[in-house]
Amino acid sequence: MPALNSNLASMPADYLFQEVAQRVTAYGQVHPDYPVISLSIGDVTRPLPPVVSKAMADAAMEMSTPEGFRGYGPACGYEFLRSGVAKNVYEPRGVQVDADEVFISDGAKTDTSALQELLGPEARVAVTDPVYPVYVDSNALAGRAGEYRSGLWSNIEYLPCVKENGFVPPLPQHYVDAIYLCFPNNPTGVSLSLNELQRYVDWAVQNGALIFYDAAYSHFITSAEVPHSIYECRGARECAIECGSFSKMAGFTGMRCGWTVVPRTLYGGTINRMWKRRLAAKSNGVSYPVQRAAEAVFTPAGKEHCRLNIEYYKNNARMIRNELRKSGLEVYGGVDAPYVWVRTPGGVSGWTFFDHLLEQAQVAGTPGEGFGPSGAGYLRLTAFNTAENTQEAVRRICAAL
Ligand code: MLT
Repeated sequence: MPALNSNLASMPADYLFQEVAQRVTAYGQVHPDYPVISLSIGDVTRPLPPVVSKAMADAAMEMSTPEGFRGYGPACGYEFLRSGVAKNVYEPRGVQVDADEVFISDGAKTDTSALQELLGPEARVAVTDPVYPVYVDSNALAGRAGEYRSGLWSNIEYLPCVKENGFVPPLPQHYVDAIYLCFPNNPTGVSLSLNELQRYVDWAVQNGALIFYDAAYSHFITSAEVPHSIYECRGARECAIECGSFSKMAGFTGMRCGWTVVPRTLYGGTINRMWKRRLAAKSNGVSYPVQRAAEAVFTPAGKEHCRLNIEYYKNNARMIRNELRKSGLEVYGGVDAPYVWVRTPGGVSGWTFFDHLLEQAQVAGTPGEGFGPSGAGYLRLTAFNTAENTQEAVRRICAAL
C-alpha cells in the first residue's frame, strides 16, 4: 500500500453538494414520475449572452489559422482580460486595481481553495459559520485544520453568524493569520455595509492578518450602502486578497473563468510575487477562447445581457422571500444575493426539512448544517432556477408546510 495522503483519506463525509445530489437522485430513481425542482446548488440557468458565445467561437476559429494559433497562454491570464477586469470591475467603483494585480483562473472555487497555499503549515485561519465548505476543506486537506469533532475543526476559529447578530460575524477572539469572508454571503444571502466591512479591514491591518475576500456575488448588489469590493474600504490594499468570478455574473459556471486580485501593496509585493510563482508552478492558464468570451462580457451588449439575467434571478429571490414569508416562514438574505436563508418550521434540523420537502413537495434545497453547526435549523434556497420553476417550487413548498 502506498503512503496515502491521510488528510484527504480522513476527510469527513461527502462534499455537501454531492450528498444533496445523491439524495435527489435516489428519490428520482424510486419516484420517476415526480420530477424534483432543484433550488439547491447555486448553478445558473440563463443562457450566455450571444456576444460572449460569438467571441468564444471566433477565438476557436482564430486558433485554426496559422496566424491565430496559440499554444500555452500566460499562467496569470492574457493581458486583455487582466486589464479588462481592472477597467470594468474596479475602475467604475473608484477603486485602484492595476492589471498586473489581477490573476485570471478557471473560477473562484479554484482560487479560494488555493489561497491557503500562501500560508505556512502552522498558520491559523478563521471562517464564518455557516461557511462555503471550500474554505474549510482546503485547509483540512493541507493538514492545517486539526481534528474534526462534532462538525468543527479544532484549529479553525469559527465566527458564528446567527439570527441574534444579524448573521454578521464577530471579530476573531484570538490571533489568526487569515480570515475568510464572503459577502454577499454564501449561504445566508446577507450582505455587509461599508462600515461593517471596514471593521474587519481595520482589525486585519492592526493585527497583521490577511483577509481572503470572496466577492463572487458582488454583481447582485443593488443596496447603496453595500460595497461591491473590499477595496472600497480604507486600508484594504494592505491586508486583503479578493476573488471574483464570471460564473454567477455572466453564466460561466460551465465555462469556468474567474480572477483573484493580489495587490502589490501587500507586504511590499511579497504576496503578489508568491501568487505569481504559485501559478507558474501549477497552471498553464485558462483557454484562450474562454478568456476571449470573458472579455466579451464587458462589451455594452454583454453588460446589458448580464444585467438583465441578474435582474431575472433577483426577481426569483424576491418571489421566494415574499411568498415564504406570507406562509409564515422566517426568511433572511436574498436582497443583494441569489441565496435565501430559511428558518425551518418548528426548529427541525435542516436535513429533516430537506427530506420533508423532497418527499412532499419534490423540491430540493441545501440543509444549513452542511455549511457548519450554526447553519442548523436552516435551509438555503437559490434563485438560479427559471422563473417558472421557482414559482412552482415556492407553491409546492407553501402547500407542504
Ligand atoms: C453553491 O451552491 O454554493 C455554489 O454554487 C457553489 C460554487 O459556486 O462552487
